[in-house]
Amino acid sequence: MTSTSSVEFNGQVVVISGAATGIGKASAQLIAARGATVIALDFNAAALSELANELKLSANQSHVCDISSQDQIDKAISAILKDHGKIDALINTAGIVGPSNTVVEDVNWPDFEKVLQVNLYGAIWLTQAVIPSMKEKKYGRIVHLASIAGKEGNPGLSP
Ligand SMILES: NC(=O)c1ccc[n+]([C@@H]2O[C@H](COP(=O)([O-])OP(=O)(O)OC[C@H]3O[C@@H](n4cnc5c(N)ncnc54)[C@H](O)[C@@H]3O)[C@@H](O)[C@H]2O)c1
Repeated sequence: MTSTSSVEFNGQVVVISGAATGIGKASAQLIAARGATVIALDFNAAALSELANELKLSANQSHVCDISSQDQIDKAISAILKDHGKIDALINTAGIVGPSNTVVEDVNWPDFEKVLQVNLYGAIWLTQAVIPSMKEKKYGRIVHLASIAGKEGNPGLSP
């Protein structure tokens, strides 16, 4: 069996959304340590800046980007391709839980819609943005993180 520590990313450009905290940050730290050019996306500018300092990312390796906006995604991915020439992998960890402890009939539609915009549309828009260049290079890996809360459903967490 291959040890996970043998997985190296030398020469790879890896885009991570939601990179400023949590699973995205841990992924960025690990993958950067294994040789990749990590490109961090997040809408939390302050936390993104902390990560950029920690990993010594250059200005074109971190982008403030709200993935609930297709326009912001397209601009960020275009800038990454212009600066780095390719995207070998996309890891989409940006996600929100939305209203919790709320019965379905009490959920406001704007709150429900926001969860769809980030967790569903954001995943689709990121995928659509990176696929053409991956096809051109005949290589690409895309990882979307989900939650058991979405797969199976939890009481009070309907969005
Ligand atoms: N932590 C867990 O135990 C767990 C378990 C199962 C699934 N997940 C899923 O994994 C994903 C990441 O979880 P986490 O614990 O790292 O969460 P987190 O809240 O620590 O990190 C999410 C990151 O995404 C960013 N983000 C949120 N909305 C964004 C947007 N619109 N545009 C850009 N960035 C945005 C946040 O600023 C944050 O940095 C989520 O989808 C979560 O549902 C987490």
